[in-house]
Amino acid sequence: MYNLARQLLFKLSPETSHDLSLDLIGAGGRLGLNGLLCKAPARLPVTVMGLDFPNPVGLAAGLDKNGAAIDGFAQLGFGFVEIGTVTPRPQPGNPKPRIFRLPEAQAIINRMGFNNLGVDHLLARVQAARYSGILGINIGKNKDTPIENGKDDYLICMDKVYDYAGYIAVNISSPNTPNLRQLQYGEAFDDLLNSLKERQKELAEKHKKYVPLAVKIAPDLSPEELKQVAEALLRHKIDGVIATNTTLDRELIHDMPHAAETGGLSGRPLQNKSTEIIRQLHEYLKGQIPIIGVGGIDSAMAAREKMQAGAELVQIYSGFIYNGPDLVKNIVNNI
Ligand code: FNR
Repeated sequence: MYNLARQLLFKLSPETSHDLSLDLIGAGGRLGLNGLLCKAPARLPVTVMGLDFPNPVGLAAGLDKNGAAIDGFAQLGFGFVEIGTVTPRPQPGNPKPRIFRLPEAQAIINRMGFNNLGVDHLLARVQAARYSGILGINIGKNKDTPIENGKDDYLICMDKVYDYAGYIAVNISSPNTPNLRQLQYGEAFDDLLNSLKERQKELAEKHKKYVPLAVKIAPDLSPEELKQVAEALLRHKIDGVIATNTTLDRELIHDMPHAAETGGLSGRPLQNKSTEIIRQLHEYLKGQIPIIGVGGIDSAMAAREKMQAGAELVQIYSGFIYNGPDLVKNIVNNI
């Protein structure tokens, strides 16, 4: 059935079809229809970051930036749902068009730029949802906050979302917010992790619960940079790492239409690159920090590769766009 829906959706611009799909998934969720249309996957429970997941396949950040369709996605069989990236204040993101499909490569290029309705709106949506499973809330900084003050935006979001999140994902790896990726390096990274961990401790005492922090990294780090990132994550006892965000690398798509568009590339061409990052990271982390693997997962085999490389959980975005909701069940049932 998704094949037909996809043919229709792909006739629309990528952003229109994204908005329409989100509306449909949200409406299906409110009416409880998605669960009827998609047979639930088998249970495949895993415990990661101290949290119990019914299965290891999650929705990656960026598809539901404002928490508009939490119940709808949960009913499609995801073991966890990550919403956001959300910023302290609402912001429009980059001018359209800002999403491009590369169907030949089963890929997407996006330069959305954290378009979102702000953290207060997101929390209202979270409170309105019935979902009681694991909800990741992915936080970022506003574009107009100078990078030197970027930390403040993460702390503002963290304070607000802490009591509502199963885990908090710290996104410092989007290529579409100027200078954001600088936060992955050196002193700026250490300082950010230090502040986040201190705040986590205060909030854990205040709310009498511990909410894990996972840092989302880019696939474009050099081996030396990745090693330094891993060492910092270990030093600060970060609870999880999400690998990876989209790539700036165009090597595998350079002669295709839209290949020259600015933005982050996701989907099939990212698959091996993110798996290699996970493999390296796993070596450096020695199993001390769990890895959530994401990047080009479009089959149970691709998910298995991520897990064999060291991921304990996986997430999908582009694969969901190209293969539809059945992908979730297919992965869980065949991983
Ligand atoms: C994303 N991604 C993303 N990640 C994130 O942490 N915050 C975000 O707001 C977004 N926004 C976003 C928009 C669009 C249109 C796409 C395609 C992707 C990245 C996403 O979560 C994931 O890390 C990558 O897309 C790699 O996974 P896939 O798409 O290859 O499965």
